[in-house]
Amino acid sequence: MSSRRDFIKKSAIIGTGIAMAPSLSFGMAKNEKKLRVGLIGVGLRGTNHLNNVLQREDVLVTAICDTDPNRIAIALQRAEKYGKKKPKVFGKNDFDYRNLLELKEVDAVIISTPWLWHTRMAKDSMLAGKYTGLEVSAANTIEECWDLVNTHEQTGSHLMILENVNYRRDVLAVLNMVKQNVFGELVHFRCGYQHDLRFVKLNDGKSAYGKGVEFGDKGISESVWRTQHSLLRNADVYPTHGVGPMATMCDVNRGNRLMSLTSHATKGIGLHNYIVKNGGKDHPNAKLKFKQGDVITSTIETANGETIIVTHDCNLPRPYSLGFRVQGANGLWEKDGDRIYVEGQSKPHQWDASNEWLDKYDHPLWKKYGEHAQGAGHGGMDFFVINAFVESAKRNVAPPMDAYDAAAWSAITPLSELSIENNGEPQDFPDFTRGMWVKRKPYHWIKDSY
Ligand SMILES: NC(=O)c1ccc[n+]([C@@H]2O[C@H](COP(=O)([O-])OP(=O)(O)OC[C@H]3O[C@@H](n4cnc5c(N)ncnc54)[C@H](O)[C@@H]3O)[C@@H](O)[C@H]2O)c1
Repeated sequence: MSSRRDFIKKSAIIGTGIAMAPSLSFGMAKNEKKLRVGLIGVGLRGTNHLNNVLQREDVLVTAICDTDPNRIAIALQRAEKYGKKKPKVFGKNDFDYRNLLELKEVDAVIISTPWLWHTRMAKDSMLAGKYTGLEVSAANTIEECWDLVNTHEQTGSHLMILENVNYRRDVLAVLNMVKQNVFGELVHFRCGYQHDLRFVKLNDGKSAYGKGVEFGDKGISESVWRTQHSLLRNADVYPTHGVGPMATMCDVNRGNRLMSLTSHATKGIGLHNYIVKNGGKDHPNAKLKFKQGDVITSTIETANGETIIVTHDCNLPRPYSLGFRVQGANGLWEKDGDRIYVEGQSKPHQWDASNEWLDKYDHPLWKKYGEHAQGAGHGGMDFFVINAFVESAKRNVAPPMDAYDAAAWSAITPLSELSIENNGEPQDFPDFTRGMWVKRKPYHWIKDSY
């Protein structure tokens, strides 16, 4: 599985159940083996990944695992719809995924389960010798972050954190601008996860986005597991959509690293207010005290002297924005306002609309596959993250976003929790590379293959 395959574009339109997307298939040289993929967790996210791999001719989905029979039924329908062989099914209990990992006919595994399962499953998968793709965030505690790194080093199995926002079209165009030094030496970043998730964390137990104020055993989909973290943890529990793209731009773990962080949290009133408004003040959940502050702000310092402000803002009414700002010695990009300023090229003290710049620096991957990626999920970026996973796994090479990245980015959760608990006291990031960041080379992001 070591040689490069090129895309062959087909024009057939296939309904994905999520969107209509052109089928993408890959030229397979004769006798080349397909990548045999097993999926653990086929809830909303896992099913999206399933759709994307089912459309590839260089992948065989050989096994799926989920403890919810309804999700298995949906996944099997998808496989049938794409005319694929029925995968082996697992999920009779919480640890049945280990039986999937024993299968010789699984080369690579995609894990899309609730957060508390991530590290345990990724570790087991690497120990079983599988090329491992793990949804975000990767880990919940510093110990888990180390577990990911140590297991990768102990086994030699690769781990890719499946951070799709790194593949967003504007993010990749700005990365291209950064690599071409348009902004000059980098100084400051802003980012975060600013997404009104009240209707995701609370629902009616029947449909994922259904009205209602239940969670845990009475909820469905993410409210079953995600909301508990808001109840018990005052932390930025979802940092990687924001920090992943910024860390890539400033070469974190490859000539740079995250050094320390301070975090502050506001009061938490958003989820309570939502419960009272939609379930009434006498609803049992109206008595709960959610520990998570509504707006959590962390400031990270890097070894190269940049700062990164990361915001977590998911419990109040607000339109979605990851709030990106990338600022260097010569200028900056701000997503909110869609604007760019480059000294000497923009009119002095005046913003340019960002679209012309972003078009000019459109990333080679988006130029090549953008049209086909559109229906893959989240505006197309889900196609690219899975493409990078599959292509890296076929070659069994280090992925663009590896175990060290998974650890450093996910460490923001426990470090922010500690800092908040201690009135904003600075917390040091462990050096998950054990000093190797000094000589590790940046990944070659600007190419049109994956
Ligand atoms: N990158 C993105 O844009 C993005 C978007 C949504 C979710 N996510 C991430 O994907 C993951 C899953 O989120 P989701 O929205 O699909 O949640 P979900 O609740 O819809 O799906 C999780 C699935 O895991 C299954 N599961 C739980 N425990 C299991 C076990 N022990 N063995 C096998 N299956 C098990 C559940 O039955 C469920 O079907 C989370 O980590 C989330 O943060 C990422």
